[in-house]
Amino acid sequence: MSDNYTRATFDEVMVPNYNPSEILPERGEGSRVWDQNGNEYVDFAGGIAVSILGHNHPGMVKALKDQADKIWHLSNVFTNKPALKLADELTKATFADKVFFANSGGEANEAAFKLARRYAHDNYGAEKSDIISFAKSFHGRTLFTVCVGGQPKYTEGFEPLPGGILHAEYNNIESFKALISDKTCAVVMEPIQGEGGIIPADPEFVKEVRELCDKHNALLVFDEVQTGFGRTGDLYAYMSMGVTPDILTTAKSMGGGFPIGAMLTTTKIAASLVPGTHGSTYGGNPLGCAVSLAVLEAINTPEMMTQVKEQSAKIKSGLEAIGEKYGVFSEVRGKGMLLGAVLSDEWKGKARKFLEAGWANGVMCLVAGADVVRFAPAANITDADIEEGLARFEKGIAELVG
Ligand SMILES: Cc1ncc(COP(=O)(O)O)c(C=O)c1O
Repeated sequence: MSDNYTRATFDEVMVPNYNPSEILPERGEGSRVWDQNGNEYVDFAGGIAVSILGHNHPGMVKALKDQADKIWHLSNVFTNKPALKLADELTKATFADKVFFANSGGEANEAAFKLARRYAHDNYGAEKSDIISFAKSFHGRTLFTVCVGGQPKYTEGFEPLPGGILHAEYNNIESFKALISDKTCAVVMEPIQGEGGIIPADPEFVKEVRELCDKHNALLVFDEVQTGFGRTGDLYAYMSMGVTPDILTTAKSMGGGFPIGAMLTTTKIAASLVPGTHGSTYGGNPLGCAVSLAVLEAINTPEMMTQVKEQSAKIKSGLEAIGEKYGVFSEVRGKGMLLGAVLSDEWKGKARKFLEAGWANGVMCLVAGADVVRFAPAANITDADIEEGLARFEKGIAELVG
């Protein structure tokens, strides 16, 4: 069988729902990636905020290989030790008492939204079914999760849509107050809106949302799919917000590149998902859980969380300096290894151009909407990789600006 494949093959044999780059990455090591032509890139993207320990991390590779030699798959007719150990560690490290494993962020959220509805149904009756989320939020691509997400472009043409979902303005407590009621079963929010443009939640806003959830017996769901597993400099972003959710979803960095997600919650709330109410063939499979345990072991240390904050400060000030020199950014925002350079008025709508200028100069970054260039490097990125990546990015911008 030939392996002479290129980007053109994508158009021939794959559904056109993506528009991938001509670059065909083949190999990675730490925060560097090499493509089909041997070109090397500094990785400030980590997939889309996934590779929290970079590429080819020895602890993760060993965990995967060791587990591959033992057993790959069981289904949930049996439980397995890696899943039990990962759930045990996650409950020790967070507010949660119980864990449900999924394969992705969207599936973790689907579980969370179903649980919130079921819990309200069991405890307060069928009338309590409204879910409130926020404009510009992103929670996945299943039909339920795109509807809870606050971006109409992802639901258009997929009607009829699930109902009982309301959208408030993020960081606008009056708009939220106008929607919450005793009919609300859950409020869903990202602590930092990722896809929406790296927009951090205002701490006062989050506290008031928590209080209003308590007043109306609504569950607070934190979608930490993008912010979780060390990305913001805490294991989970809620940990430094002075607010604890009732349900938390996590994926992306959780597997560092191996597909796994989870929903975390309390014993009382979890009790509504009795046998038969929800499930997943692959959720909690031993390979994914073994890898995630290796990620957790490497990430969840005070030293690593300090490193995230220190390296983040270096990248942020480097981006601010570039922004000032070329007049391309109005602000650099976000936290830890999740930063967004907001394009100045002159460059608004052109984030993709910055991405391409980076690729042409050997650095990978991301967009978060059309107005924000997003950076999601690995927690263990070195000073040398930061300096080289920023230098290459600056070169790209110098070319772009002309
Ligand atoms: C906050 C948030 N929730 C959910 C998802 C969906 O995760 P997945 O693509 O793994 O289904 C994403 C993906 O970008 C995300 O950023």
